[in-house]
Order: sequence, then C-alpha cells, then structure tokens
Amino acid sequence: MLATLPFALNFAHPLMEWGLLATSAWALYLGIKVKKTRTGTPKQRKALLPGKFAQRHYIWGSILLALMTLGTLGGMAVTYLNNEKLFIGPHLLVGLAMTGILAVAASLSPLMQRGNTVARKTHVGLNIGMLTLFLWQAFSGMEIVNKIWVSR
Ligand code: HEM
Ligand code: HEM
Repeated sequence: MLATLPFALNFAHPLMEWGLLATSAWALYLGIKVKKTRTGTPKQRKALLPGKFAQRHYIWGSILLALMTLGTLGGMAVTYLNNEKLFIGPHLLVGLAMTGILAVAASLSPLMQRGNTVARKTHVGLNIGMLTLFLWQAFSGMEIVNKIWVSR
C-alpha cells in the first residue's frame, strides 16, 4: 500500500455506494409514480399531477448517473492507489457494466419525452437489470471491504 493513502479513504467508495443504492430505490419509486401519472384513471392522474414526478424523477436520475460515474472512477482510483494495479474481477466488470447501462438508459430521455414507447420500455428494462446487478454488487463489494479490514 502507498504510505500516503489514509486507511479511512478505503471506506469512501463503499459508503457512497450504499447511499447510491438508496438513491436508486428513490428513483425507482419516482419512476413508478411517473407511470401511474401516465396510465392511471383521470381521477388518479389529476391527484398525482401536482407531485411533478416526471421532473423529479429526471433530476434524481441525473444525480444518480453523475454520482455513479464518479463512484466507479473513485473505486478504481482507490484500488489503483492501494495496489498499483487494478484487479480485472467481477466487481470491476459489473461496476463498469452498470455505469454503461445507466448511461444508455438515461440517453433515451429525449425519446421518452416525445412519447416513444420502445424507448420507455427499454429504459425501464435496462434500469431494472441495473438494479439487480446493484444488489449483487453490494455483496461482492462488502466482501472486498471485509478483505481490506482483515488485512489492515
Ligand atoms: C434506478 C434507475 C432508474 C429507474 C428504476 C427508472 C425507472 C423509470 C420508470 C419506471 C419510468 C416510467 C416509465 C413509464 O411511464 O412507463 C421512467 C421514466 C423516465 N425516466 Fe427513468 N429510471 C431510472 C433512471 C433514470 C435516469 C438516470 C434518467 C435520466 C437522467 C431517467 C429519465 C427518465 C425520463 C426522462 C422518463 C420519462 C418521464 C416522462 O414521462 O416524462 N431515469 N424511469
Ligand atoms: C454497497 C455497494 C458497494 C460496496 C460496499 C463496494 C466496495 C468496494 C470496495 C471496498 C472496493 C475496493 C476499493 C479499495 O481498494 O479500497 C471497490 C472497488 C470498486 N468498486 Fe465498489 N462497492 C460497491 C458498489 C459499487 C458499484 C455500484 C460500482 C459501480 C457501479 C462499483 C464499482 C467499483 C469499481 C469499478 C472498483 C474498482 C475495481 C475493483 O476493485 O474491483 N462498486 N468497491
């Protein structure tokens, strides 16, 4: 390990990622409300409209995309500083895949806003896949945390 790297820095990425898992759940909740606002009965839609769920989902989705990209780069940076190399393992590859999937899902925004059904269904499918990977990533991530803690 490089002597200059404070031990606590190893926990920045895991803590951020647990926060992002919660943010993802919030984005999912807002997305479900967006769907309800679109497909509900006229009475339900009228009640949901003031919630501005589409705008809020878009903002939280954008925050998620930005922070997940930085979180991935940060995880790689800390790993590199610790080991002077990267481990081409499942946590790295799944992490990169998740960030790629989320970026592609976000890029469908202009099409979704024009009412494109294929874009909307692709967006939801990609993001549900991304969330499934996130749950697995949290397990593999905690295994790495454990390794770092044991070998401190
Ligand atoms: C955890 C990640 C995400 C999940 C689970 C998710 C889920 C959803 C769901 C369920 C919908 C509603 C689809 C429908 O009406 O049938 C939706 C719509 C949408 N999402 Fe996401 N989303 C995520 C991330 C993002 C991101 C990163 C962006 C862009 C930065 C984004 C932008 C949008 C937009 C623009 C819409 C269309 C809203 C409208 O109808 O105006 N979402 N999303
Ligand atoms: C709760 C979830 C997560 C935990 C606990 C966690 C934990 C960790 C830990 C401890 C490291 C090693 C850093 C070091 O050497 O100090 C790491 C590396 C990394 N993490 Fe995560 N992580 C999580 C989620 C994620 C997510 C969601 C992504 C990407 C979307 C990601 C991407 C990476 C990458 C690319 C690396 C560097 C490569 C590697 O060491 O395999 N992680 N993570």
